[in-house]
Amino acid sequence: MAELEPVTMDKIVSLSRRRGFVFPSSEIYGGMGSTYDYGHYGVLMKNNIRARWFEAMVRNRDDIVAIDSAVILHPKVWEASGHVGGFSDPLIDCRTCKLRFRADKLEDSHCGRKPSKRPGETPECDLTEPRQFNLMFETTVGALQEEGSRAFLRPETAQGIFINFKNVLQIARRKPPFGIAQTGKSFRNEITPGNFLFRVREFEQMEMEFFVPPDEADKWYRYWIDERLNWYRRYGLRDSKLRVREHGPEERSHYSQGTSDIEYDYPIGWGELEGIANRGDFDLTQHTEHSTTKLEYVGQDGERYVPYVIEPAVSIERIMVAMLVDAYDEEVVGDRERTVLRLHPQIAPVTAAVLPLIGKNDEMVGKARGLYEDLRRRHSVEYDDGGAIGRRYRRQDEIGTPWAFTVDEQTLEDDTVTVRDRDSLAQERLPIEDVREWIDAALERDWKSPKES
Ligand code: GAP
Repeated sequence: MAELEPVTMDKIVSLSRRRGFVFPSSEIYGGMGSTYDYGHYGVLMKNNIRARWFEAMVRNRDDIVAIDSAVILHPKVWEASGHVGGFSDPLIDCRTCKLRFRADKLEDSHCGRKPSKRPGETPECDLTEPRQFNLMFETTVGALQEEGSRAFLRPETAQGIFINFKNVLQIARRKPPFGIAQTGKSFRNEITPGNFLFRVREFEQMEMEFFVPPDEADKWYRYWIDERLNWYRRYGLRDSKLRVREHGPEERSHYSQGTSDIEYDYPIGWGELEGIANRGDFDLTQHTEHSTTKLEYVGQDGERYVPYVIEPAVSIERIMVAMLVDAYDEEVVGDRERTVLRLHPQIAPVTAAVLPLIGKNDEMVGKARGLYEDLRRRHSVEYDDGGAIGRRYRRQDEIGTPWAFTVDEQTLEDDTVTVRDRDSLAQERLPIEDVREWIDAALERDWKSPKES
């Protein structure tokens, strides 16, 4: 199926808001830049993305364990990691419009005057020289704002993993190669706002640090690039919209010996979805030096080394934008237009809708509610008996519900229901008692985006 029109970020923002996936944060107070709140369907979709990641990275493997570290860590963690000294962007202030811009993104920035210009575009723009500006949010710990109370909200979840390396090694009795995985909020005072959830100030990272013998690092680096790329394919992102881009030496972070981005073709152009880095022994060595606790692997035969680390790191937000963009579709069916989110069934916020054909028919309502109560114990399902059936189908299409089960006159005679497929619009009948099993089997089927022509 070919795409009718390009999917714009505006269309995604508008659908997300209209259907209650994502709202601009603090809206009643005029909004808060680059910060968003999630509505019901946004929460359900985020939960699904996190669950699929956790299955692939922890539950279905014997060599990776989970951790959940604190958001506010000892300030020395961020000195050791290099974030206090080096986690900064070059920024320029405009003395005229009082806004601040990233020096390396001036071309894409808009100044505060109306009509908006590019900073530096007119003689009135009075720009300062670039200055380094740290991206970490600072806070104070304890009741007093005194020397030594300064702390930071974590800008990545990774450091909470490194500082627990020894705990996990001992208690989970692991030996390299093994990994530690964590999901949780990270915070960055990003100055380039805009582009919806793509770059936000708080986001939920999903990171996994895989500790390996140094001479196996390259092999595992390649392995994790493939694994993660296949995860995106499995959950329906189209091949034509995915690519792997290896960083040049000048582009790499201070800790990296090799980095590849899995990029997605967002409406704003190709951009980083997930990064896979070979961090070498940088982090364990740094924390050993700064903490005086030796972070190394010692084997039973006395073998001893500092493992190298391979890190796949992504945020739920970047995945969510990619999946919404990839799924968004508009088509004309009969003489009606419909908007449909062709999400993978295991990612869609609602797995099935249960609809009585006539909402005022007590018998149909009774049967439909019975089916709904049965299904909701296992799946995310929705019951809806309000309004014309066509309108109810279209509402489910817009939130990406893959299947709608309808109770009609025939159900009252033979206890069968119809199931309508969101993508093909095909309908089939099945006994009401088989619906649960039907959904279980359908969720396990391989799935390919119908937009992939
Ligand atoms: N621990 C390594 C690390 O944090 P990063 O490339 O800075 O590396 C990893 O971030 C991932 O986190 C990115 O690939 C992206 O998916 C996500 N991410 C980073 N900054 C983000 C932001 N401001 N908003 C949304 N997601 C972000």
